[in-house]
Amino acid sequence: MISKNTIAEIFDKMAIEDIVGDFVSLRNRGVNKLGLCPFHNEKTPSFTVSPAKNIFKCFGCGRGGNGIDFLMEHEALSYPEALRYVAKMYNIDVEEDVTKAEDRTESLYRESLQIVNNFALDHYKDALHNTDLGRSVGLGYMKQRGFTDKTIATFELGFAARSPRNAFTQKAVEAGYNEDMLRALGLTNKHGSDFFFDRIMFPIHSLSGLVLAFAGRILKKNDNAPKYLNSPETEIYQKRKILFGMHLAKRAIRNENLCFLVEGYTDVMMMHQHGVENVVATSGTALTPDQIRIIKRYTENICLIFDADQAGVKASVRGIDLILEADMNVQILTLPEGEDPDSFVQSKGQAGFAEYFEEEVKDFLLYKAELGKLATADDPVHRAQTIQELVDSISKIQDGIKRHLYVKETAALMNIPESALVEELEKKLEKNHQRSRAAEFRNAQKEKEKPNSEVSPQSEKKKSVDLRLEENIIRILIQHGDKPIDEEQNVTEFVIENLEDVVDFFEDETLKAILEIYQEFNEKSEVPDLHYLTHETSTEIRKTVIDLQEGRFDSHYSENWVKMWDMDLQTQPAPQKNQKRDVQEAIMRFKLNKATKLCDLNKQEIQKYEAEDNMVEYLKHLQIQQKLIEMRNVFAKEFQTTVLK
Ligand code: GTP
Ligand code: MN
Repeated sequence: MISKNTIAEIFDKMAIEDIVGDFVSLRNRGVNKLGLCPFHNEKTPSFTVSPAKNIFKCFGCGRGGNGIDFLMEHEALSYPEALRYVAKMYNIDVEEDVTKAEDRTESLYRESLQIVNNFALDHYKDALHNTDLGRSVGLGYMKQRGFTDKTIATFELGFAARSPRNAFTQKAVEAGYNEDMLRALGLTNKHGSDFFFDRIMFPIHSLSGLVLAFAGRILKKNDNAPKYLNSPETEIYQKRKILFGMHLAKRAIRNENLCFLVEGYTDVMMMHQHGVENVVATSGTALTPDQIRIIKRYTENICLIFDADQAGVKASVRGIDLILEADMNVQILTLPEGEDPDSFVQSKGQAGFAEYFEEEVKDFLLYKAELGKLATADDPVHRAQTIQELVDSISKIQDGIKRHLYVKETAALMNIPESALVEELEKKLEKNHQRSRAAEFRNAQKEKEKPNSEVSPQSEKKKSVDLRLEENIIRILIQHGDKPIDEEQNVTEFVIENLEDVVDFFEDETLKAILEIYQEFNEKSEVPDLHYLTHETSTEIRKTVIDLQEGRFDSHYSENWVKMWDMDLQTQPAPQKNQKRDVQEAIMRFKLNKATKLCDLNKQEIQKYEAEDNMVEYLKHLQIQQKLIEMRNVFAKEFQTTVLK
């Protein structure tokens, strides 16, 4: 277990914008930062990061929390994993409280896999740099291919010796690692020997730089053995969700607003070495929607780099349609005959690459149209087919204006009337539309079947009056608790004092718990700060606090009250300047509502006893009603004088 001291230090040092900034492209918006929410699909940003408050909040899907919450949700990390991640970011030494390692929960298992991978990484790196064979054969090979020490270190390359066949496995078992786990990770085969031998080891990292898997490249060309061997899929490694080099590329992708996608590991490394850092590769598989979604967090622009032989293009068409469907832009850069990104950037350097890119990069559709035109010049049947394919791709584009521009260009290129294309396109769009409507319907059905579907902004409308009034009091405490209400009291003191007799009427458990935190602090003449509330409380409380801390809720509330109370309220354009009134109003409304509610409840009782002819209870409740009405009138009067005067 990570010690309390370490956790406190982590909370102290972590800055939400650093943590989120690695995954979401953020723009400044006043004191906050704004970006596209990584948790739901959106086109206009509603994901807000507040550096001052050290929290994030999405106004689209309602998710919010502190930096650790973000990592747990976004990176699917466990709580300790997220803490360790942040500790690593800020070079914080992690102090452990000793616990027994018998609890093999899933997250512990994942953590263990991670630890074994780290051990393997160290082993392979050590074998590359600190053994004779590693240096001569492994390092020798990489150096001869033009990789610098720095690149080799950055990508954490390693070496697996040819013999003994169980060098790694034996070392790991001696160090106390569980052999089942070595097998699960694919590092050891079923006979207890090493899976990787006589290979250069390329670690495959998560977005945050953890080693999830390995790829081993053969040293000498051998037709009987695969050039690359990859670790199998595990709980921590899913090929379709990983892009090689992403942990090193993400900042550059965001800065350049462009992601290069190449085919080979060595292409990524060599481009990186030459200063083109916004580059990633798939692990020798077709591009997946998950991978596209990862790229989309940083940019909407992907450039595929192909070798001159066009086999690559055909193979990637599906990937390209997926990119278009994700509402992103695809460009193609075709390299000269006989070159791959690795060789090209080595011979031309960064400047040469940049120049070539400027001149040769083509928008994907135009590229496809040009290719089609060349290939089908004298062949009407193929020509028609090419046009169909083009229309198909255009129909995947979400943006109507863009679609229109492509239609124009394609018509010009293929030398056919625009109207013919438009007609085809409309048919396709209608078909796509039907398909997506069907999918939407299916999803909606599924949502309905889910026991507790997500909290959406709409569901706020369904909140009861009681809940809103309770929320409003807590909102004031959170937003203004420490501000003076007059010369003698701050808002917290005032609220606690005035709510003393009605605290038990709070119906919402979470809101009541927050109120109790304020009571506790108030007894020490203190006010809990936002940091405490959003970092050191339960998930429920954190979520509620984050929902209520935003100023923008104010107008939203008063708007509803107008309807609720069916009277024109004086709005409070600047509650911060009108602290006392804001607070009094909230408390009065709460009390008045409770009194009214009690009156109604009691009235039902009266009617019941009357019907039952139970005179004793009937009279008793009539008296109670009398008291309640008096109380309500007192509140109403106070309310009139304080709020509506
Ligand atoms: P070098 O040949 O060292 O330059 O490596 P490369 O990364 O450029 O390889 P290449 O262009 O031949 O292949 C592109 C990518 O396909 C590689 O980076 C691997 O991800 C994948 N790949 C290539 N060969 C194999 C193989 O034999 N098995 C598997 N699983 N993947 C391969
Ligand atoms: Mn290559």
